[in-house]
Amino acid sequence: MQLTNLDNRTVSESLAHFSVAGTMLYDPSMQNAGQAATAALTILESMSIAIQFPNRAARQQPRRTPWIPSAAEWMNLRLISHKADVSPLRYPGGKRKLAVLVGQIFARAQTKPQLLVEPFAGGASVAISLLEAGFVENIALSDADELVASFWKTVFSDQAEELARMVKRTKVSISERKRIIASRPRTTLNLAFKCLFMNRTSFSGILHDNAGVVGGKKQRSEYKIGCRFNQERLAQRIRTLSALRHRVTFVECQSYEQTIAMVVAMESTQRAPETVFWYFDPPFFERADRLYRKVFKDADHITFRNWLGCIPGHFVLSYDDVKASAELYGDDPRLMRLGMQYVGGAASERPLVSELIISDLMPNGGTKISINHKTRSVLNANTTRRNRR
Ligand SMILES: C[S@@+](CC[C@H](N)C(=O)[O-])C[C@H]1O[C@@H](n2cnc3c(N)ncnc32)[C@H](O)[C@@H]1O
Repeated sequence: MQLTNLDNRTVSESLAHFSVAGTMLYDPSMQNAGQAATAALTILESMSIAIQFPNRAARQQPRRTPWIPSAAEWMNLRLISHKADVSPLRYPGGKRKLAVLVGQIFARAQTKPQLLVEPFAGGASVAISLLEAGFVENIALSDADELVASFWKTVFSDQAEELARMVKRTKVSISERKRIIASRPRTTLNLAFKCLFMNRTSFSGILHDNAGVVGGKKQRSEYKIGCRFNQERLAQRIRTLSALRHRVTFVECQSYEQTIAMVVAMESTQRAPETVFWYFDPPFFERADRLYRKVFKDADHITFRNWLGCIPGHFVLSYDDVKASAELYGDDPRLMRLGMQYVGGAASERPLVSELIISDLMPNGGTKISINHKTRSVLNANTTRRNRR
């Protein structure tokens, strides 16, 4: 661990890092010594880098011109995030409708995000909306699910054209779906195709091999297997997104911890940590295993909360509003609640749910932010835990 620059940090900043790492090292969720040692190394590795910023040189940098999006730019963001196909993936728990809110919260920093990182990427619709609307310069995506990460890697690579061609060529049928489910692709391109095919032909975009097929096994519904697989439009969307690949800093298949360590180590982060923004949308507390192939155990939610205390830059976190998340975040003064309908699945299956939003840019929570669309405005900000029960 390098402590050489410790004198450049305030005592409280340093202590914050140490206490977070300390908590994590003694996390009871660690199953065995090997796991604890790996976690310790990761933390110390990232701490040794983190400890070097923000140093005096960074603090003394000239102030940037405040960044204030124009009314036309806000309108553009609204239009983009309104489009159901902003992401080619119909992701369960997709947060497309949150893009404007996240943009609003980020705009409070009056600093244009140089890098927006989405470490739980899924359908990545928040990052994509903000990128296309010009609210962020660059994005970085990662997801622990190999299918999802391969999809985004391919879209933002020179193989995107081949993926678009595969989408146009494929026969969308029950037998083809069976073949694809049974296949075990070895290349990133074929994994990407499997991801998209499964996503667009399964109920609610679920990627599990045993997910129900759109239209049902016997295809008796008026909505058949191909009804969500508009080959022409999907291929075109892949091409359009691919044209933005020079603004995609990285796409990785990895855990969020690895992504944090990676971003902390970047030279640009160390130079200007305040220009890094994060959007965290971890797997739900409840029913996540029915929706995702990679999920959190209870202890992972606690570990994640500890990481949140030691990341550079600004963040927005969204969580399903259930008892367990309220236990973890209910007393956080930055908490706000809002009502929203998830995207994905049939409209009739989308109840109005409450979502927890936490951001370092909303130190007193939010009472007045409305996210427009069909989404209701903030329900109940700054409520105490006791009031909510
Ligand atoms: C709630 S979803 C994200 C949805 C996304 N925000 C959207 O709008 O489509 C959570 C994602 O986290 C991923 N995930 C689960 N555990 C992870 C981990 N330890 N590190 C990184 N990603 C993980 C899952 O594969 C899933 O795609």
